Amino acid sequence: MMDFDVKDKNLAADGKNRIEWAEADMPVLRSIRKDFSQEKPLKGIKIAACLHVTTETANLMITLKEGGADVSLCASNPLSTQDDVAASLVSDYGIAVFAIKGEDNETYYKHINSVLDSRPNITMDDGADLVSVIHSKRKDLIANIVAGTEETTTGVIRLRSMEENKVLLYPIIAVNEAKTKHFFDNRYGTGQSTLDGIMRSTNILLAGRRFVVVGYGWCGRGVAMRAKGMGADVIILEINPLKALEARMDGFQVMKNTEAALIGDIFLSVTGNKNVIGEPILSRCKDRTIVANSGHFDAEIDLAYLKKNSKSVRKVKPMVEEYVMNDGRRIYVLAEGRLVNLGAAEGHPASVMDMSFANQALSAQYIIKLKNEGSSLEKKVYTVPEDIDKNIAKLKLASMGIEIDKLTKEQEEYLSSWQSGT
Ligand code: ADE
Repeated sequence: MMDFDVKDKNLAADGKNRIEWAEADMPVLRSIRKDFSQEKPLKGIKIAACLHVTTETANLMITLKEGGADVSLCASNPLSTQDDVAASLVSDYGIAVFAIKGEDNETYYKHINSVLDSRPNITMDDGADLVSVIHSKRKDLIANIVAGTEETTTGVIRLRSMEENKVLLYPIIAVNEAKTKHFFDNRYGTGQSTLDGIMRSTNILLAGRRFVVVGYGWCGRGVAMRAKGMGADVIILEINPLKALEARMDGFQVMKNTEAALIGDIFLSVTGNKNVIGEPILSRCKDRTIVANSGHFDAEIDLAYLKKNSKSVRKVKPMVEEYVMNDGRRIYVLAEGRLVNLGAAEGHPASVMDMSFANQALSAQYIIKLKNEGSSLEKKVYTVPEDIDKNIAKLKLASMGIEIDKLTKEQEEYLSSWQSGT
């Protein structure tokens, strides 16, 4: 009997339909699945995954299983689980899932431990929670682990700091650093799904609003670009001078948080840092300001400040909480300050997760291929091999019916020579 913990297995039929809907928009992953089903590159390998339990993740899990792996899955965020998808993975695909939307912190970690009880050979993280629990509480598992993968910027930052401090005990492939991941998922995925989360939860018109994006990394760029496309007047807050300059030349207003606080209608954080929507903004912002976060952890909005300085809190609609501040201003927090794109919408669309999860599947295959060849990675954070990254771009282009030109022989020679000048 397979162990699992999902909200309600009766939701499976809806979940299966939605998993298949996503699959239709994941041609690269589908072609990998086809190869995996013939070659079984992950035969006998145990994979523990801690990812957002969505229709797209379901397709990755099915692909890994098709490749011969024994897979178990828990959520990488307490609010992002799609309960019907979790049910279908258990009932229709025989995959052990431990995830319930809205689970409390204790259950969240219980589920992480359930997945780790499988004694994995590969860990697949989105935010480095598996790595963190293994390194702090379950070091006994390390002997079995060949390597891990990491999906997101925040996780890679945590892991690089572990590597620098020489405490990382097994190798990790940073999927986030593949170009076919962050150029697309972080920018177009976060751009679209964040607006989707804000619009589904509030139904506000973005045209004519002042939309403040905190952080101008790949995700911030995507959100700013899409908010502008919807007619918002976009303001960027950024602490890095280069990125701030880039934002300005991309056509956005750039200013200090205290200045933006007075005029912004919506504040959205995507920094990976703590309390970036904090006292400087929350003490000055207008009545009926909306605040939301699309960064990995729920640390970006200073909820403690809001709680301390408000006289009441109430839920006004699903995923919208109203804080009435002591001075009477109302501030609306979306999705409890957790990832608004996954808490209040369905996360990035399948077409973009296609490339992210192709990187995950091929990185798992690469880890096992190296092991089978007798070579091993060091206890470091690695990027996805460039040939894998390029191949995913080629497959994606082909699936879109796009052909591109090749260098002529003459051009190749010109590029590799240093003699010819003017
Ligand atoms: N991260 C962002 N969007 C996602 C999705 N749809 N599935 C899994 N992880 C995600």
